Amino acid sequence: MKDLINKAVEILYQSKNTIALTGAGISVESGIPDFRSAGGLWSIYDPSDYATIDAFLNNPEKVWDMLRAMDKLVSKAKPNRAHIGMGYLERMGYLKCIITQNVDNLHQAGGARNVIEYHGNHNKLICLKCGKRYTMDEKRNEFTPRCECGSILKPEVIFFGEAIPQAALYDSMQLANSAQALMIVGTSAAVSPANSIPIMAKKNGAKIIEINKESTYLTSRLTDLFLQGDAGDIIEKIVNVIKEDD
Ligand code: APR
Repeated sequence: MKDLINKAVEILYQSKNTIALTGAGISVESGIPDFRSAGGLWSIYDPSDYATIDAFLNNPEKVWDMLRAMDKLVSKAKPNRAHIGMGYLERMGYLKCIITQNVDNLHQAGGARNVIEYHGNHNKLICLKCGKRYTMDEKRNEFTPRCECGSILKPEVIFFGEAIPQAALYDSMQLANSAQALMIVGTSAAVSPANSIPIMAKKNGAKIIEINKESTYLTSRLTDLFLQGDAGDIIEKIVNVIKEDD
């Protein structure tokens, strides 16, 4: 692994424009389960019943059961070594932007400033009837959070069947088209259009560093360097080599 860590650092040194795509795996060390690993969220809640916009519109109270369970974990979660290490890479100029599929705000809490939230943020709520916005912090004690107009609030996270926020889509494609290196961290890359980002970056000649507990369909197709293991462990090692070099 030491050799792979050194190769990853070399790619970061060579690249003048590195971006990252992260997924739920990066937050597992912070106590938030991922979706598709054994025991992940989708093994407890069937995504077709809990994670589509139709499921929410047809039975918001039921979907809030899952959302509240998630909120219990997310509201207590602290940024881990991977979030903090990526914040350091950004501050030191080795990472330009993090495109995250996560809604847990942990990259920002870990010090990253340039974060594109591809699937929204769990702490923002909106009333689909009158458009009024709230934060989860304001509404945490309501079993099913309601707007003052009486309508049940929806978290501003992207459910299956909803479009990715226009700005997130556009900005991330621009970044993928000009990246010289892409770090893929803790994602199964199972969901589009997020999983088109590595394909676009590769097409434009970016070096792909994949950090994941297990290989994905990207590993054999476009990954240049696969570092298998815990994101916290691996990113901490990468940062330590850079700190020793400084
Ligand atoms: N370190 C590194 N990788 C890890 C770790 C860890 N500690 N723990 C798990 N992983 C890996 C898993 O092996 C898996 O490949 O992270 C990946 C998580 O994949 P998913 O559970 O599919 O999560 P993600 O890729 O973020 O899902 C994408 O799907 O359900 C939707 O909107 C949801 O944003 C989510 C999207």
